[in-house]
Amino acid sequence: MNLTVALTGASGAIFGREALRALELDERVTRVHFIASENSLRVLAEELGLKGRNDLLEKLLGGAAKKTTQHADADIGASIASGSYPSNGMIVLPCSMGTLASIANGLANGLIARAADVTLKERRPLILCVRETPFNRIHLRNMTLAAEAGAVIFPVIPAFYNKPIDSAEMARQFVCRVLAHIGLPQPGAHVWKADE
Ligand SMILES: Cc1cc2nc3c(=O)[nH]c(=O)nc-3n(C[C@H](O)[C@H](O)[C@H](O)COP(=O)(O)O)c2cc1C
Repeated sequence: MNLTVALTGASGAIFGREALRALELDERVTRVHFIASENSLRVLAEELGLKGRNDLLEKLLGGAAKKTTQHADADIGASIASGSYPSNGMIVLPCSMGTLASIANGLANGLIARAADVTLKERRPLILCVRETPFNRIHLRNMTLAAEAGAVIFPVIPAFYNKPIDSAEMARQFVCRVLAHIGLPQPGAHVWKADE
């Protein structure tokens, strides 16, 4: 699989980090294209203590990237900006209301919004892990618009029935659900068994 992962300026940077780590480890994945929005850098600094854009990918992965390539959001000429590039889908995690609005309204005004637009027009899976609370009517309308265009609205709402011991485990289990949805069931994913 060849996937695109975007981090935007919503709370929940740890979820994006865990997604990138899981994809780097997954042998079914050959290539990952990674884009961090300008505003995600502020949230990465607040939530994960990662300052600046230098070596961001290595810092997120905790080591050198083997299959993940980072692109600037301003680089609207990157491969993933074209439908001719054989991508298998895109995950926006976390997805801010601003990025949701751009995608839902087809603005294609940066690489994240353009790659998402291409993903929709090529009828490939687009998973928007939106995060805000509470939602206003604009957010709700934009989620409906995006869903009607083919995106999956996959809110960052982690589970508690798996009794996560810390926030990283909570994020990992959420990422397992996202990746299973895109066709990559993960080892270690918690599966509910009612009679246990
Ligand atoms: C610490 C922090 C947390 C934020 N959390 C959210 C959030 O959960 N959801 C959201 O939609 N915006 C959130 N924002 C606001 C977005 O970062 C802001 O709207 C930004 O313009 C989004 O830009 P982007 O979509 O290009 O990343 C947060 C901002 C900061 C600094």
